[in-house]
Amino acid sequence: MARKKILVTGGAGFIGGNFVQYMVNKYPHYDIFNLDLLTYAGDLTKHREIEKKDNYFFVKVDIADRESIMSLFEKEKFDYVAHFAAESHVDRSITEPGIFVQTNVLGTQVLLDAAKQINVTKFVHVSTDEVYGELDIDPTTFFTEETPLQPNSPYSASKASSDLLVRAYHETFGLPMNITRCSNNYGPFHFPEKLIPLTISRVLNDEKVPVYGDGKNIRDWLHVIDHCAAIDLVLHKGINGEVYNVGGHNERKNIEVVKTIISTLGKSEDLIEFVTDRLGHDKRYAIDPTKLEKLGWKPNYTFETGIAQTIDWYLNNKLWWEQIINGEYQNYFKKQYSLNK
Ligand code: NAD
Ligand code: TYD
Repeated sequence: MARKKILVTGGAGFIGGNFVQYMVNKYPHYDIFNLDLLTYAGDLTKHREIEKKDNYFFVKVDIADRESIMSLFEKEKFDYVAHFAAESHVDRSITEPGIFVQTNVLGTQVLLDAAKQINVTKFVHVSTDEVYGELDIDPTTFFTEETPLQPNSPYSASKASSDLLVRAYHETFGLPMNITRCSNNYGPFHFPEKLIPLTISRVLNDEKVPVYGDGKNIRDWLHVIDHCAAIDLVLHKGINGEVYNVGGHNERKNIEVVKTIISTLGKSEDLIEFVTDRLGHDKRYAIDPTKLEKLGWKPNYTFETGIAQTIDWYLNNKLWWEQIINGEYQNYFKKQYSLNK
């Protein structure tokens, strides 16, 4: 059987990084290429355990660098592309929207041109439920694949734009593709600017945890490994041209998430500090995953088992997140939050 070549963009980041490890270990007969620019959110130290394997390759490129991307695709003739690379943090998109358009929209379009040029077997575009906008705090409504796109933040608008380009390349040029729209992920190697790793790292250091607004906004949490399994399934079995929502019915208010982490670590709720709300803060996200379940996916983690595993991982991998929070991150944190400690 011919070896398949899979290109994973953004494979030095949180979800792409977990996906690279998942694929390298699960498919020794596939060559897995990790393409990443190594922005503030990317690091290769997470791949120490796989970097010597014969089926793992790394290439440092900007997805928006047309010339380099085109020649890389011509040279390697990838069979599949799993596209994770993006600017991914809503707060940063509020202070600096331009880079979100550059990477998420223009970068995706360059990849689409390259994928079209070499006739890839499948382009899987990893998107987000945030493209659907927000739901009311009403536990009976969910995002389906038919929900209209109504992005509210520059981040989700840039992701929605890239989704539409992927769709257009399918309709116009016949590019084989799937789009996946996942709820909030958590798990190992999550960059500590996002709610769960930020809370764990700060609680472990006895530092205040900033909770936006009244803490009642709701997110639907999915363990990153369950997301990786979903992408693997869609890559191999997804029906050409279809969109799949990914989520596990794990809705929690932000304040519940923060309190769960504090009590698991045996610390005081005095660490919670309510701060000024995020601009345009979406109230609630919640996914109806029926379509993906029919394809054969089901999550292995509940929120309870997943958050316990994740907290353990942060306890056992302090070196990884300390190297991040002791670097440039300190300037970001000071600018983003004005906390007493
Ligand atoms: P992340 O910020 O942790 O990682 C992004 C990676 O992309 C980093 O390694 C970064 O170096 C790389 N990158 C950024 N700009 C690049 C460029 N121009 N060229 C090449 N590489 C570049 O993000 P994540 O949380 O792992 O998210 C991955 C994907 O999943 C994104 O597309 C995001 O929109 C989507 N998503 C994320 C979530 C979530 O909860 N984190 C949920 C649903 C969907
Ligand atoms: P985040 O992890 O940034 O993911 P997203 O904005 O993509 O959902 O935020 C998750 C929720 O937590 C969101 O409702 C905003 C809230 N939040 C805080 O309350 N404080 C924080 O410091 C951060 C980063 C997020």
